[in-house]
Amino acid sequence: MCGIVGYIGEKNAQNFLISGLKRLEYRGYDSAGIVTLDEKGKATLLRAKGKIANLEEKLAKAKRDDHIGIGHTRWATHGEPSETNAHPHKAGPIYLVHNGIIENYKELKAELSDFEFQSETDTEVLAALINSFYQDGKYPLANAVVQALKLVKGTYGIAVASEFAPEEIVVARSGSPLVIGVGHDETLVASDASALLGHTKRAIYLNDGEVAVIGKNSIEIKTLNAEPVSAKVEEIETNLAAIQKGGYDHFLLKEIMEQPESLTETLRGRVNAKEGTVHLGGPRLSVEELRKIRHLLIVGCGTAYHAGLLASYYIEQFTPEVTVEVVIASEYRYRSAYIPEDSVALIVSQSGETADTLACLREIKKQGVRTVGIVNAIGSTIAREVDGGTYVHVGPEISVASTKAFTSQVIAMVMFGLTIAQAKGVKGTMLRLYVEEIARLPEAIRSVLETVPKTVKRIAEKHAKYEHAIYLGRDTAYPAAMEGALKLKEVSYVDANAYAFGELKHGPLALIDDRFFEVVLLPKGVLYEKAVSNIEEVLARGGHMVVVTNVTDFDLPVEDVILIDAKVEKFAPLLMNLVSQLLAYYMTVCRGLNVDQPRNLAKSVTVE
Ligand code: F6R
Repeated sequence: MCGIVGYIGEKNAQNFLISGLKRLEYRGYDSAGIVTLDEKGKATLLRAKGKIANLEEKLAKAKRDDHIGIGHTRWATHGEPSETNAHPHKAGPIYLVHNGIIENYKELKAELSDFEFQSETDTEVLAALINSFYQDGKYPLANAVVQALKLVKGTYGIAVASEFAPEEIVVARSGSPLVIGVGHDETLVASDASALLGHTKRAIYLNDGEVAVIGKNSIEIKTLNAEPVSAKVEEIETNLAAIQKGGYDHFLLKEIMEQPESLTETLRGRVNAKEGTVHLGGPRLSVEELRKIRHLLIVGCGTAYHAGLLASYYIEQFTPEVTVEVVIASEYRYRSAYIPEDSVALIVSQSGETADTLACLREIKKQGVRTVGIVNAIGSTIAREVDGGTYVHVGPEISVASTKAFTSQVIAMVMFGLTIAQAKGVKGTMLRLYVEEIARLPEAIRSVLETVPKTVKRIAEKHAKYEHAIYLGRDTAYPAAMEGALKLKEVSYVDANAYAFGELKHGPLALIDDRFFEVVLLPKGVLYEKAVSNIEEVLARGGHMVVVTNVTDFDLPVEDVILIDAKVEKFAPLLMNLVSQLLAYYMTVCRGLNVDQPRNLAKSVTVE
């Protein structure tokens, strides 16, 4: 949520700030702003409501050749999206950009009664607080920032510049990521390493409670208690191609179509199809520790939660002595839930920064439970705080709607389950069948993505005017249906909900009428016949149905059928989910909406 950039060096600061903000725009896109300082500290502050393009229009009339500056793209928390509420916020000579939430901003504001606040934001309060300690440059900027942060409750990633110190930027973090790019005669700042690509591959990831003073050729990091920190410079693994559209109209379509390759990356070096085994080194659990596991707790939000749910259906099939509990992080963090002995918690997050998931991780660790991350973003906070983990390695996901991460999260968790089963000595062909299917999955995905898009597009065009949809499935198709409904609602704004087919008669069947269409995920399997009866019940009440199935002789008189490649069976719901992803994409295009940046949302939910 929200994006921060900063620059100090020899090049044009405005150019870097704007290009960096564009890279981070998917993180928040209701307003944006930059400030740059010339050598004497004269500031040029530009802010605009809406997209970065609006800011660029303003910039065209205010070009400066300044070499230091900070910028921000906003996802509103306090105060509506407007130019006045946009960052950077100014207080005296201080300029501040901020990600996160200052929870005690009202109390702090009450103490700052001399200051004339312009905005409704919590960030302006922090700017005024820093300014009150700065006293027009009487004290070093870093000292003023530290004094202020010591009074703050909440989360922050900040960058601060001062008209009186145009040779330094002060940055700090607590709960909201910040990375410092180490260049030649330049130092860069961003809340996400993707903004640094093309400028430097060398980065320092700040930890919570650290403050850095950066100059063109200097980086000095300390804790809030003034203890020096020796920074580790790391290589940024992402490349530029991974964050560009690569010929697709939208990132969403690119990321859906990338799944054969992204899943291959998840499996690389971890699956031995010949022997029917998997090997995960990252969780750092010995065979003895794996053998002792009796309970798996899976924690995530949104799509990551759905991935956990789907994985749980598989894991409980081959690890019979293990109970699997899947929880929504925003709920779980405030519950007084008992975690049984011999538990391991899987912490699932694409971004590795989701505030609620991170809070659960910290809470669970406090209880002495072993944590394993299922994370995509390398070096992210969750990845660094878990006891061990398995990166899904799908590369950057830029579109706000998560797609390729889901598929890989499910399989990474299934592989973790298989690792437990192997350690427990589960014998027979069952594990082998799973492993073989996992190894074949990238090709099966490729085949579906080569064959279904035209049909899905036609069906999307036909259904684009509906405002209501119901996704239905049983067994493993049920969590996949939940994910399908989430995808459709978040990008196309169609009111979509998912139900376990068996639940229909308990209420939702009353909804079926001409305002709704139903998407049914219908895999072959033990519950197939029961699901077919459920379909008949809906048809008898005038349902308008799209059935996605791998059963070639399915012949009920439904309006649309999408037949998918039947070469994998256990993971057919994952293939069906590709259809749901494409349906959401094409419906959104047909409805003329912003595919990659749906209204009110942002990638990476770093506030509660
Ligand atoms: C939906 C979506 C969200 C995320 C959720 C968790 O398409 O993207 O529901 O899945 O915000 O995000 P991560 O995985 O980054 O923790």
